[in-house]
Amino acid sequence: MPTKLVLGLQHGDEGKGRVVDDIAEYWADVVVRFQGGGNAGHTVYDREGNKYVTHILPVGIVIKQSNNHVSRRNMTNIISRGCVLNVIDLYEEINSFKQKEITPNDLQISGYCPLIEPTHILLDRLKYQGKLGTTARGIGPAYSDFYARDSILFKDLVCNPEEALYKIQEKFFNFQTEIAQSNVDGEVINENFDYFNNWTKNYREIVDCVSKFLMEDESIIIDLYNEGKNILLEGAQGCGLNIYSNNYPDVTSSAPTVGGALNSTGLNHNQIDEVIGVIKSYKTKVGTGIFPSRCDEENANILAKIGNEYGATTGRPRKCGWLDLDEVNQAIKMNGVDHLCLIKTDVFCNIENPFIYHNSELNEISKVNHVSLEDKSFVELLETIKTKTGINKVSFTTGPKRGEIVWSEM
Ligand code: IMP
Repeated sequence: MPTKLVLGLQHGDEGKGRVVDDIAEYWADVVVRFQGGGNAGHTVYDREGNKYVTHILPVGIVIKQSNNHVSRRNMTNIISRGCVLNVIDLYEEINSFKQKEITPNDLQISGYCPLIEPTHILLDRLKYQGKLGTTARGIGPAYSDFYARDSILFKDLVCNPEEALYKIQEKFFNFQTEIAQSNVDGEVINENFDYFNNWTKNYREIVDCVSKFLMEDESIIIDLYNEGKNILLEGAQGCGLNIYSNNYPDVTSSAPTVGGALNSTGLNHNQIDEVIGVIKSYKTKVGTGIFPSRCDEENANILAKIGNEYGATTGRPRKCGWLDLDEVNQAIKMNGVDHLCLIKTDVFCNIENPFIYHNSELNEISKVNHVSLEDKSFVELLETIKTKTGINKVSFTTGPKRGEIVWSEM
């Protein structure tokens, strides 16, 4: 009865996608995305170094696209009900995978996913992008409607696309009327109309295409679990962005945690066998909010440049800092993490005088020379992390490509 759950323990962008990709290739029968929407950007490189980026599609979708994968399984990918769905972006993302067509055997989408409507995106741009540094993908407003029980669900769209469009239009016109009555620039009103018209331009064709992925039966994840299939739950964002955290309001609008995964999949806590927490050897953050371990400009520039720390979704430069073990420990405690996976230490090796943040203080550590168990400085880093987190099972990546990962044998 194996279920593995991959979570980010920092502020997103830890490299969860590449960890999911590695596990998916050799192990998973099912990969389930369980929270968030197109705000995520999971970057994956196959063994040949070809790059793939997913936003809402589970990373398992990438495996079939690459030439020399070693997967022995027919994998199903599921977007489960905790995710919010922009069907236009979904359509484009599905079509961006050209190597092998994505079929309903590869992808199933819960009918209970709330839709991200154009109004959600326009509202996010107008109200929250500047205030909170959101990704402007409509995430917060879509979840607001969901909790207010005003969402159009994916199944509503599939069953009655005309009625769904009518509701989408109605919300948009109400929004435009409201902002026209406030002091919003007329230019914005016109741009909103352009955006909306563009969004609805190929609506019917797009609905036709995405409808075939509607999950017939919401109990599919439990059924697969009962059949003994290997289920991999793919987290997006990170625990520092959890809406149920003290970082509120500098958070996303979902729960990228074990709790979020349970709500979204119907699995219970006894059915999660291993929680794998992904951390970078340093930390990055986008958006507003405190960043106690933020580092000086010189080191930040090295990390940003060598680590290519620019958002996969927005292209924004990420702020860089030292690994914050206080926040990691908080996430470990809250989620019951069993296993850590340390990412991008090859980037961290370029820092001459590195630090780790722990107990609200910066601690200088030895320069890390090579990502190898033969290297004393790297083993020292692993030992420091094990001691300060209490987790002895620590795997690590040696490079960005699929397979460049050393799994802990514990
Ligand atoms: P939203 O999720 O677009 O509403 O953005 C809320 C906050 O979460 C902002 O600070 C975003 O930068 C951050 N955020 C959302 N998704 C990600 C992600 O995938 N990686 C890193 N930060 C994210």
